[in-house]
Amino acid sequence: MKTDLPQSFRRLEYRPPVYTFDQVELDIALDPARTIVKSRIDVLPGKGFVAGAPLVLVGQDLEFVSLRINGDAHRHFELTPETLSIHSLPNEGKDPFILEIISICVPEKNTTLMGLYVSNGNFFTQCEAEGFRKITYFLDRPDVMARYRVTLQAREAQCPVLLSNGNLLKTEKLPNGWHSATWEDPFPKPSYLFALVAGKLECIEETITTSSGAKKLLQIWVEPHDLKKTRHAMDSLIASIHWDEKRFGLELDLERFMIVAVSDFNMGAMENKGLNVFNTKFVLAQPETATDADFANIESVVAHEYFHNWTGNRVTCQDWFQLSLKEGLTVFRDQEFSADQMGSESGRAVKRIEDVRLLRQMQFPEDAGPMAHPIRPDEYQEINNFYTVTVYEKGSEVVRMYQTLLGREGFRKGMDLYFKRHDGQAVTCDDFLAAMADANHRDLTQFKNWYSQAGTPRVKVQEHYDATKKQYQLTLSQSCAPSPGQPDKKPFHIPLKIRLITSGNEQVEKLLELTEPEQSWTFDNISERPVLSINRDFSAPIQLEFDQSEADLLTLFSGDDDPFSRWEAGQKLAMQMILGNRLPDAKLIEAYRTLLMDPQLDPAFKELALTLPAETYLYEQCKSVDPQQIFTARRAFRKEIAKQLQLEWAALYQQNQTPGPFKPDAVSAGKRALKNLALSMLLEADPKTWAPMAVNQYQTADNMTDRYAALSALVIHGAKEANECLADFFNRFANDALVIDKWFALQSSRPPVEGLELTLSDVKHLREHPAFKLNNPNRARSVIHAFCANNPASFHQPDGSGYAFWVESVLALDAINPQVAARLARALDRWRLFAEPYQSKMKAALEQVAACQTLSPDVREVIGKALG
Ligand code: PHE
Ligand code: ZN
Repeated sequence: MKTDLPQSFRRLEYRPPVYTFDQVELDIALDPARTIVKSRIDVLPGKGFVAGAPLVLVGQDLEFVSLRINGDAHRHFELTPETLSIHSLPNEGKDPFILEIISICVPEKNTTLMGLYVSNGNFFTQCEAEGFRKITYFLDRPDVMARYRVTLQAREAQCPVLLSNGNLLKTEKLPNGWHSATWEDPFPKPSYLFALVAGKLECIEETITTSSGAKKLLQIWVEPHDLKKTRHAMDSLIASIHWDEKRFGLELDLERFMIVAVSDFNMGAMENKGLNVFNTKFVLAQPETATDADFANIESVVAHEYFHNWTGNRVTCQDWFQLSLKEGLTVFRDQEFSADQMGSESGRAVKRIEDVRLLRQMQFPEDAGPMAHPIRPDEYQEINNFYTVTVYEKGSEVVRMYQTLLGREGFRKGMDLYFKRHDGQAVTCDDFLAAMADANHRDLTQFKNWYSQAGTPRVKVQEHYDATKKQYQLTLSQSCAPSPGQPDKKPFHIPLKIRLITSGNEQVEKLLELTEPEQSWTFDNISERPVLSINRDFSAPIQLEFDQSEADLLTLFSGDDDPFSRWEAGQKLAMQMILGNRLPDAKLIEAYRTLLMDPQLDPAFKELALTLPAETYLYEQCKSVDPQQIFTARRAFRKEIAKQLQLEWAALYQQNQTPGPFKPDAVSAGKRALKNLALSMLLEADPKTWAPMAVNQYQTADNMTDRYAALSALVIHGAKEANECLADFFNRFANDALVIDKWFALQSSRPPVEGLELTLSDVKHLREHPAFKLNNPNRARSVIHAFCANNPASFHQPDGSGYAFWVESVLALDAINPQVAARLARALDRWRLFAEPYQSKMKAALEQVAACQTLSPDVREVIGKALG
């Protein structure tokens, strides 16, 4: 009988490998229908060696052909669908030996996009986390680090380009139109960093000189028709290389560094050693086809993958529970890089606000839901489900807190010690913390709770001002709600930047360290009741419980010198009013007006300050969510801002034009953002009057930011001109897959509009559209995820029709690509937070998916935890 209890992996069950690999030689004859992989491996006893133990390799969807040890056929082995166990090793495994294996895989049938697969006729691999086992039998775990020499063979006409990690050693012509290329990577690496790419690709290249004076070859490989869209990625790569030298003293260690773009990819991009593989979405850009957001995302993803070369590759993870060791740290590094690229202090602040907004919109719900996990999880069923906003974005906030506590210099000392101790090793989050602590002679024991406990801490603020004593007392208490498997929480070490704002000149600015459940601070010589500015720059990833008066919030919103806190005060005011079903009052409208008209303020900041909190963030503030009510209240609030400030919006629209050729820099992008918010607000106020101006912008735009913003304003506000522009957009960009993704996503994420049919009926038509492809992740996400995850008011219908669509889509996707299906499966995570009738209908939908007998482990884990 088959038990269907899913298998769990536990962090504390880590055991060092019994055997390890030194040198790995791969010989791969590429054929879409039958790729032959020969491996030749030097095997040695590992850290966990036990004499006589079998060598247990893993393999998936492989056809086994043969096995040799030290050159001789070896018969003592056992095959299961997922393992190859080899017994009777020479001298009980105590002596090194040479293992040779031949196996076969079928790239053209591989729709999971893990392992070796075909996309648009070219070959690609994706090995993180556990894809290498779909290429050959191996010790597919990150603490086995080996040096690789790889020979690729293919038909030259079909695959003129053959790439792998490291340096190119030689190329050869072979009989029958075949050819080969041999690559050698001088740095030991885990199998998840292996990559090969083969096919009809072309590149742009550049030679640069790094800090030590070494020359390096940089290449960006794409399909020939995309060559003209690679400049921005190349510029971003060069900027990243220079930044890492300057900020962290880290230099590129290979003679050659390559980026390859692929249109079928599960994630954003992958940091394979010297051969980064990217979703086309994060490489290709030119002004006519990519928005400012696309340009910024490309810059940050290129930087992220490049930065992994040190934080991830040179120092890697001992096991997958340590994922945040490389991801949290590398996200922190890419955020700091992007902030520096903004070119000004106010630009840095804008980047910080954007990052916090994303964290709160995406990660806070995760941290309060059934999949909540510490940044270092203790248990998983499918590691692919743990590439989460918690591991990445909260992980980055945790790294940022070291810098806040230790200062920039202290943080740099910690990084230097981390590399000094661990270069070439596979290590843990504890090792990182120890390096930070030791380099700064600090005891960071309590800081470990950020790694072990899930949930967003809540910090309650109580203040008291004594006018006679001129004394201000601040009391902070912390708590953290239970999360799965963690009923009780220990106090966190929370750095809180504060400032006491008064009209006098005794400005008190301090970094408080909250470590106890409750702590008080007294400030003397405070001449008047101060307004408290707290968690400035979002110094800790917490929720504040603070009944600050609307008057104080208005004071902060009108003039806090910390841009984050200023923005935050505005968000809080708007949030309280929306949740209280109120419209903005006269004072808030005046504050908005003053801010919008302030010539000193950055347009990008104005745009953020006038963008309302997302619906999903508002949900988290409720005990019982009525999604239609929240949508209606938020939209009414927006309409009021639009109407009351209509003259200002019109003026801002004119003032923030960016004449001349398109430039993607932060200042120009900020102006476009504000101008396009103004356009959207004008249509919100009065679509009939302003739609022609949007149509005009749509037609005359010389860049995608402006064209898409105009189209989007027409669609979102239900303008009658929308359909004609949508049709024009499709025809104009029919040959550009990434732009067609935008066309699908815009329609799928249209919120409800009075007088129009529900978006779901459009979505069902889009799914039947000839250009829709379920097996291309970008396209599938542009319709299905855009609707189920990014369009809450359309998705959450009281009749449950959105959930029925979700059930069908999860099941259809799961049969093709479990990773993409499992992401979609998470759209119902927060079902317990919803009011009736939503809650029961969401539960029923989850149960319907759970009842499917053939679910992948990926989807099974997500659904099981949601219902558990
Ligand atoms: N390691 C990649 C990154 O963060 C993400 C990734 C994970 C890509 C798994 C593919 C598969 O940069
Ligand atoms: Zn990463």
